[in-house]
Amino acid sequence: MNESFESLFRDYAVELRKVTDNPARDLRVLLGFLEKKAPEFYFLHPESLIPENICAQLKTLVQRRISDEPLSKIIGEREFFGRTFKITKDTLDPRPDTETLVDAVLHYAKDLPKPLRILDLGVGTGCILVTLLLEMKNATGVGVDLSPEALKVAADNATHFGLLERASLREGNWFSALDEKEKFSLIVSNPPYIAYHEVLEKNVQDYDPHLALFSGETGLEAYEVIAKGARQHLLAGGLIAVEFGKGQEKAVRALFEAESFEFIAYFNDLTGGIRCAIFA
Ligand SMILES: C[S@@+](CC[C@H](N)C(=O)[O-])C[C@H]1O[C@@H](n2cnc3c(N)ncnc32)[C@H](O)[C@@H]1O
Repeated sequence: MNESFESLFRDYAVELRKVTDNPARDLRVLLGFLEKKAPEFYFLHPESLIPENICAQLKTLVQRRISDEPLSKIIGEREFFGRTFKITKDTLDPRPDTETLVDAVLHYAKDLPKPLRILDLGVGTGCILVTLLLEMKNATGVGVDLSPEALKVAADNATHFGLLERASLREGNWFSALDEKEKFSLIVSNPPYIAYHEVLEKNVQDYDPHLALFSGETGLEAYEVIAKGARQHLLAGGLIAVEFGKGQEKAVRALFEAESFEFIAYFNDLTGGIRCAIFA
């Protein structure tokens, strides 16, 4: 039977409310995904009838959402810095926190050594590298990831934004994918930074790839490797910007200072927490 958005909302609102504080939005996004319509359509036309086959598919998607699968993982995309990125089960969902790192770096962009070359370690979906290349028109970049599946997603996103000629995507363990003499104006990284023993919220623990989340007993292992290897690949006058988790700022700063990096600044995320640091 064909049903209206209003009646579907009545069917699913109570269950959806257990996992989201905005069940109407979630339902509109899922329906829009199935019908290839903007979610706002159902806001403007709550009475329009939805075909029976779509209602059946919606039921399956709502069940997935009710089991706390993130909306983005169900529809396969997520907004970052005002643009839509493809995501899969093999990529970390781009987070608003990471926009802090992009904003921070753009603040210093005009003073970076030329030619502008960016290295993104742990490129994932490519959200950082793609955004920086779109915002810094003369730059080229290299994105490295250990996950070949994530690199395919990064390549799809780079292609979608017309950047394949300016971005080289390489499989490797941090710096291993680079030539010894390769140098960059800017190195960025949002590496995995959670300690193995930490228990995360179900919608993160079950749906984001563990390779993107966990980094050793302390959560700091990736920074140790990155701080040790970065100088060799940084042009004189270049910068390195890293994101980290709540409360890690002092430990991360100490690791970079131990490798003779000069601390430039911390940057706060939207909740006021210190989220990223820049070193020279
Ligand atoms: C926290 S995610 C960040 C993804 C993306 N840059 C972002 O900000 O949304 C960390 C990324 O590092 C990658 N990674 C983990 N260990 C790695 C390693 N040893 N070498 C290269 N990449 C690695 C993961 O596959 C994942 O894509």
